[in-house]
Amino acid sequence: MTILSLAPIRGITDAIYRDAFARHFPGFDLAVAPFLTTYQGNRVKPARIAELLPENNMHLPVIPQILAKNPDHFIVIGKILADLGYTTLNWNLGCPYPMVANKMRGSGLLPYPEKIESFLEKIHCLPVSISIKTRLGRKETKEIFDLLPIFNKFPLSEVIIHPRTGLQMYEGTVDLDTFSQCLELCRHPVVYNGDITDQNRFRELADRFPKVKGWMIGRGALSDPFLPAEIKNMPMKGDLRQTIASFHDELFEKYRELLEGPSHILGRMKGIWKYLSGAFHDGKKLLKKIQKTKTVERYQQLTQDIFSQERLRRENT
Ligand SMILES: Cc1cc2nc3c(=O)[nH]c(=O)nc-3n(C[C@H](O)[C@H](O)[C@H](O)COP(=O)(O)O)c2cc1C
Repeated sequence: MTILSLAPIRGITDAIYRDAFARHFPGFDLAVAPFLTTYQGNRVKPARIAELLPENNMHLPVIPQILAKNPDHFIVIGKILADLGYTTLNWNLGCPYPMVANKMRGSGLLPYPEKIESFLEKIHCLPVSISIKTRLGRKETKEIFDLLPIFNKFPLSEVIIHPRTGLQMYEGTVDLDTFSQCLELCRHPVVYNGDITDQNRFRELADRFPKVKGWMIGRGALSDPFLPAEIKNMPMKGDLRQTIASFHDELFEKYRELLEGPSHILGRMKGIWKYLSGAFHDGKKLLKKIQKTKTVERYQQLTQDIFSQERLRRENT
């Protein structure tokens, strides 16, 4: 059975997005939420916890993710989440952004296996299982070979691997040969993540890596929300463009209720279109037009025009 998970994309795949996505587009079995972190030591923003309240996550099971280099901070958030009923938490060891990684968080921790080991020992007290989302290394792909023996010492529920280094950010190709070695060396279930943009790519990867336990898709699904259903051979019912329009309109209304001021609403919607424009034939041109809009009214007019006039890539076939 193919297990598909929605990748965490901070700034986009919040509870509102995940919920609307799951009701409009079938195929995902679960999602990992964008990371939570503490500030000023061990404080947590209530709004970020609200994102993970069970009532806001009714349509797609979610695994919360925590970004921390200090195990005590992880435990503070972990306890709150365990009290909400979560039984698995994901530790972010992949974030490549310099502001994060330079502070030895996310992929910034990967060159320090001994710190990762003592971190895992300390958070063991939490009544949850731990999964890890990692890259192959911060600077070099070979860093992963010092990390896997440590991961193997702990009872992790799974290891999600994005086969790039932190320095690569999202550029260059994924290193499938190193991923293949990780698959042999890791005793935990391994989830593959990276650049699954269409059905053919998924098939190539699934044929090459039959041992992979699950597949995580981020940008590919944000750009083509029908991809998970296609991978799973699920029927895509109704008018596809209408489905995308209804998904979009719902997001727009919900963010209009939630966010204050036109610039926040437009900012959020433009972020979504950065990916969603990829569903359309003339995606790049449409995105430019959307990015230029300065008022909510203009934005609404433009998006209505797009949904009534522009063709989806999928409508060509
Ligand atoms: C804008 C953006 C935000 C992201 N936020 C997170 C995050 O909060 N946690 C995380 O583990 N990965 C995050 N990622 C990485 C994705 O989850 C995923 O690993 C990456 O996009 C590669 O998968 P894809 O090619 O299927 O998109 C983010 C990526 C992008 C582009």
